[in-house]
Amino acid sequence: MKKIKVMTVFGTRPEAIKMAPLALELASRPEFDAQCCVTAQHREMLDSVLNIFQLQPDYDLNVMEPRQTLSTITSKCLNGMDSVLEDAEPDLVLVHGDTSTTFAGALASFYHKIPVGHVEAGLRTYDKWSPFPEEINRKLVGAIADLHFCPTAANRDNLARENITKGVFLTGNTVIDALQTTIIKDFTFIDKTLDSLDYVNQKVVLVTCHRRENYGQPMADIMTAMRRVADAFPDTELVYPVHLSPVVQEAAHRYLGGHPRIHLIMPLDVREMHNLMARCYMVMTDSGGLQEEAPALGKPVLVLRRETERPEAVEAGTVRLAGVEEEKIFQMASQLLSDRTEYDKMAHAVNPYGDGQACSRIADIIAWHFGRREMPPEEFGQ
Ligand code: UD1
Ligand code: UDP
Repeated sequence: MKKIKVMTVFGTRPEAIKMAPLALELASRPEFDAQCCVTAQHREMLDSVLNIFQLQPDYDLNVMEPRQTLSTITSKCLNGMDSVLEDAEPDLVLVHGDTSTTFAGALASFYHKIPVGHVEAGLRTYDKWSPFPEEINRKLVGAIADLHFCPTAANRDNLARENITKGVFLTGNTVIDALQTTIIKDFTFIDKTLDSLDYVNQKVVLVTCHRRENYGQPMADIMTAMRRVADAFPDTELVYPVHLSPVVQEAAHRYLGGHPRIHLIMPLDVREMHNLMARCYMVMTDSGGLQEEAPALGKPVLVLRRETERPEAVEAGTVRLAGVEEEKIFQMASQLLSDRTEYDKMAHAVNPYGDGQACSRIADIIAWHFGRREMPPEEFGQ
């Protein structure tokens, strides 16, 4: 019987972390001819993930350039996808989440009349400008996609509100699948700073900040708050693997550089990152992925944004919205660093985002969609 040709398309670090386990799952099954196309919207940060998961792309558009604009990324990805899709002729293209790569990958597939599956579908803030441009990217992909793989029931409800009810499946988030392969007991860090930290007597706070809507004043306020936290609490060590974006690099070094207990380090490979998260005291971040991973590891998270499209862990009590204003961030971090009762309220492991079976469910659904299985799999139960 002819194999179903399924092409995964991704380009940034978080998409790679969340799509690699799925690409590997598809490749392991005889009914699929699994193809992988990377746009390389990110370069080093993407290659690091490919390396850890030992994934070899079939196509690489290599679009990254320093300080790239949204229009450049989108048009380069769109143009590049043309020849890839003409050459590969996949039966289905899978895109992930809400990046420029995601949108361009879905649009190019639509132009070629190739069905699209959207992994991590249905996340919404209902604010066009935040996250920017992700909220609109994911809405546009929602309009194009034929199969929608929703991490949570709330995500499915969001799609229903837009009258998207066909081809919608509750699968859990593939990031939890990834996490199960990267966390290692008694892990030894390669990074010298991470290896030298005292995780028992000091409070190691993992911080990241990179979002476009935080560029400028919000980022300055967030980072000023972080420095105040380090100054006010001598028993803390702030570890910040700084995103390679020149905008972020400049801000981080300007506001946080030269402090003995703020460690500005290069982006970590995903295994180092996940094991650092497992060992840290708490997380302060504007990242989407970290909001999903840290709760699974029982780590309190302060979200450095005004809103979140991931309300599930807020409801479960492990994530709090700290906003982007200096004083509020400082106060909320101070409370978690000084009040054990408040800390303990948040530090419990919850898994609203998945059970580690999302990739297997998605592969089963695709097989069923193409008539190779009698029934779709059981949905992810929260
Ligand atoms: C992108 C996504 C965002 C996602 C983030 C994950 C869009 C519009 N944004 O934002 O949704 O949360 O990735 O990190 O798709 N750079 C390097 N090397 C790398 C990666 C980036 O040098 O490996 C630098 C380049 O100068 C690049 C800049 O970072 O121009 C910004 O990258 P870009 O993909 O445009 O935006 P992100 O902020 O990373
Ligand atoms: N991550 C990583 N190394 C780092 C920082 C983040 O491996 O130095 C991982 C993190 O664990 C998560 C993903 O990258 O899985 C999140 O990526 P990012 O914050 O860049 O994007 P977002 O999730 O906000 O889209």
